Amino acid sequence: MDERAVTGWWRTSLVRIEPGEIALRGYPIEQLIGAVTFPQTIWLLLKGELPSREQAALLEAALVAAVDHGPQAPSIAAARMAATCGLGLNNAVATGVNLLGDVHGGAGQQAMAMYEEIRSSELPLADAVRDYRSRHRYLPGFGHRFHPRDPRRDPLLGLVRAAVADGTVGGEYLAVAEEIERQLGPVPMNIDGATAVIYAELGFPPELGRGLFVLSRSVGILAHAWEEKQSGTRIKGPLPRPLLPTYTGPALRDL
Ligand SMILES: CC(C)(COP(=O)(O)OP(=O)(O)OC[C@H]1O[C@@H](n2cnc3c(N)ncnc32)[C@H](O)[C@@H]1OP(=O)(O)O)[C@@H](O)C(=O)NCCC(=O)NCCS
Repeated sequence: MDERAVTGWWRTSLVRIEPGEIALRGYPIEQLIGAVTFPQTIWLLLKGELPSREQAALLEAALVAAVDHGPQAPSIAAARMAATCGLGLNNAVATGVNLLGDVHGGAGQQAMAMYEEIRSSELPLADAVRDYRSRHRYLPGFGHRFHPRDPRRDPLLGLVRAAVADGTVGGEYLAVAEEIERQLGPVPMNIDGATAVIYAELGFPPELGRGLFVLSRSVGILAHAWEEKQSGTRIKGPLPRPLLPTYTGPALRDL
């Protein structure tokens, strides 16, 4: 078989690997190390070019904000349980990440899709939001089970407003999110709605927004899995030992 037919089987524009050479998007790794930040590297790989310092700072703020939300979150709890079962740390992290889906951890991607649908509507903004609300009872990225006001909302939106003011981002998605919030009245934007504004303003498609959230939350999942592993607890289930889940089947009966 022609050698090019084999080497062309996998194609990538991300990284050039030769003996003694690693280059990300054309930049030698030895020039990147020490010169660019981790968020800049994420951007470079996902988008192909390096971001400006301001773009990278906004991306980093979103990544920091979503890093952890405590062991009551199913993904974190699952990772901690996995860590007590004798798995390696990588398996424990994967267990947590695998729980992030459309319902748990999916609101950011859904909010990005919603913002885009409203932004691209031909209706005036307020009407486009009203139209969307008439078709959807719950809007992703707004409201929270136990934070009356998500403490991450204000600093994130403050950074987006500053980025609009200095021309780093355009502000169209921020305007959509703020109009939704205005119409929802007392239901404020949550972490997913606010980070969705950032990822959309920075030009990421919704699915990559989910990917970036997973990258961010993976840090928390790793730290929780490590903490639980350090405790030395073995086989920790979802309830403290003396408690059992409620049984709802038939009463004991003879065969
Ligand atoms: C998170 C969530 C489940 C919290 O729900 P909750 O605590 O049960 O809130 P409630 O249903 O008590 O909401 C109170 C009122 O606000 C409204 N509301 C809450 N979140 C809303 C939302 N996202 N969109 C529209 N209305 C919302 C409810 O309709 C309700 O109105 P009503 O009293 O007229 O019926 C809900 O806000 C939601 O589904 N949000 C979207 C998903 C999301 O962003 N999840 C990520 C959270 S970090």
